[in-house]
Amino acid sequence: MPAGVVDAAAKGVKLERHAVLLRRAAGAKHLVSASSHLLFRATVLATLALVVLFAVHYPSLLSHSFTLSAAPASPSSTPRSRHSHRSLLGSGASSSYGRGAAWEREVRRSATPRRDGALSVLVTGAAGFVGAHCSLALRARGDGVVGLDNFNAYYDPSLKRARQRLLASRGVVVLDADINDAALLERLLSAVPFTHVLHLAAQAGVRHAMRAPQAYVASNVAGLVALFEAAARHADPQPAVVWASSSSVYGLNTEAPFSEDHRTDRPASLYAATKKAGEAIAHSYNHIYGLSITGLRFFTVYGPWGRPDMAYFSFARSIVAGEPITLFRTADGADARRDFTYIDDVVRGCLGALDTAGKSTGSKSGKKSGPAPLRVYNLGNTSPVPVTRMVAILEKLLGKKAHKRVVTMPSNGDVPFTHANVSHAARDFGYRPATSLEDGLRHFVDWFVRYYKVNVRGGGNVLAGKTAKRKSMPMSAAS
Ligand SMILES: NC(=O)c1ccc[n+]([C@@H]2O[C@H](COP(=O)([O-])OP(=O)(O)OC[C@H]3O[C@@H](n4cnc5c(N)ncnc54)[C@H](O)[C@@H]3O)[C@@H](O)[C@H]2O)c1
Ligand SMILES: *[C@@H]1O[C@H](CO)[C@@H](O)[C@H](O)[C@H]1NC(C)=O
Repeated sequence: MPAGVVDAAAKGVKLERHAVLLRRAAGAKHLVSASSHLLFRATVLATLALVVLFAVHYPSLLSHSFTLSAAPASPSSTPRSRHSHRSLLGSGASSSYGRGAAWEREVRRSATPRRDGALSVLVTGAAGFVGAHCSLALRARGDGVVGLDNFNAYYDPSLKRARQRLLASRGVVVLDADINDAALLERLLSAVPFTHVLHLAAQAGVRHAMRAPQAYVASNVAGLVALFEAAARHADPQPAVVWASSSSVYGLNTEAPFSEDHRTDRPASLYAATKKAGEAIAHSYNHIYGLSITGLRFFTVYGPWGRPDMAYFSFARSIVAGEPITLFRTADGADARRDFTYIDDVVRGCLGALDTAGKSTGSKSGKKSGPAPLRVYNLGNTSPVPVTRMVAILEKLLGKKAHKRVVTMPSNGDVPFTHANVSHAARDFGYRPATSLEDGLRHFVDWFVRYYKVNVRGGGNVLAGKTAKRKSMPMSAAS
C-alpha cells in the first residue's frame, strides 16, 4: 500500500476517533446539563416542601417573625438608649402581640418577686410538664415567674393550655412564643430584669426524632443558641441560666450508676445528640460571655400533669382502653429498667440549682470580669426499676390487667437501663429524691382519672360523673 494512502487512512481513523470522542463529550455535557436541570428542579421542590413543612410545624414562629418584622428596626441592629430598653413593647411594636400597655403591665407584674431576696425567673417550656410544675413551685414561694411556650402539637396542645390556665389562676403569665423568636427574647430579656432563666423548652422524645429530626435541631440546638444569645448579650445584668439536658447523654455508657464524669460521647438517639451538643454550646457561652450555666440531666420524670408520649402515661391510657402495650426486653433477655424520678423531687432539684447558681460575670459590652460557674448535675431517683414492675403498679392502681406484648428492644434510641448517681446534687444543693415509684404512680393515677374522667373499678376510684364531659384521650404512641 502506498504510504500516502496509509497516512490518509490513519488520519481518517484518527478523525473518526476524534469525532467519537467529541460526540461522547457532547453526550456527557447533555447528560450533565440534563441532570443539573433535574437537580435544580429537585432542589426547588425539596425547598418548597421544607417551607410548607416548616409553616405547618411552626405556625407561631412564622406569625411572630411576621409581626415583629413590622416593627421599625431590629433591636440588635440599632444602638438603643437605656430608656428604650425599659420598654417591653418597643416603639411601634405595640401591635405585635396585640395587647399593648395593659399586657406589658401584666408581664411585669408576673415577673415581680413577692418577697425580699426572691428570684425573678423566665421559665421557657412553662406549659410543658416540668415547666408548669416548676413555675407553680417558684410562684408558691414568692418568686416572680414569666412563662413562655410555643404550644406545639408534639402532644395534645389542650393539655398544655390546661396547664397554662392552672398557672394563670396562680398569677403566672405564659407567653405564646417560640424560643427561636430572637427579637422577642432580646426584647423580653432587655426589658425585664430576670435574675434567672429556667430553660426547659425543647423537643423531647427519643424515637420521635426519627420522624422529625429537624424539630430537634430547631428547638434543642438553634433555640438553645437563641436563648443563650439573648441572655448573654441583651440582658443587663446577665441572668444565671439553668437548663434541661438529659440522662440520655449517657447513651451506651455501661458503667453504673451514671456519674457526671462518665463518658457521654456515644448518644443512642438524635435527641441525646442534641442534648450533648447543648452541653458543648453551654460551655462556649460560659467561656466567652461569662454566662452562669447549670445543666440538669433529668432521669425519666413522671407524675400528675405528665407527658402523654411517655411510657407510664401511654400505658395507663392503653390499659384503660383495653389496648395492648409493647414492652422492651434487651437482647440478653433482661427487662428494660428506668430510674423513674417523681416530679416533686425534680422540682426540688430545679429550685436548688436555681438557688445555688452563682452570678454571671459578663456584661452587654461583651467583657467578662472573671470565670462564671458552669455546672452539670444528674437529677434521678437512684434506683432503676424494671418497666414490667411499673406496669404491675399501674394495673393495680387502675384495677385492670394490661395486654402485654414483649419484643426485643430495637436499637433506635432506647437504652437498656438508666441509673443516676446524684451525689453531686446532694452535696451542692441537698438534692434527695424521696418518692417511691408506688407513691408517685398513685399521685399520677389520681390525677389521670380525674383529668380524663376515667371510670376506675377495683381501685376504689369511681370518679366519672354521668354528665361530665370526657376529655379526649391522648393518642401518642408508647415511648
Ligand atoms: N420528662 C422527662 O422525663 C425528661 C427527661 C430528660 C430531659 N427532659 C427535658 O426536660 C425539659 C422539659 O421536659 P418535659 O417533660 O416537661 O417536656 P414537655 O414537652 O412537656 O415540655 C416542653 C415544652 O416546651 C415547649 N416547646 C418546645 N419547643 C419550643 C420552642 N421552640 N419554643 C417555645 N416552646 C417550646 C413545648 O410546647 C412544651 O410545652 C425538656 O428540655 C426535656 O428535653 C425531660
Ligand atoms: C457517685 O459519685 C461519687 C462522686 O463522683 C463517687 O465518689 C461515688 O463513689 C459514686 N457512687 C457510686 C455508687 O458509684
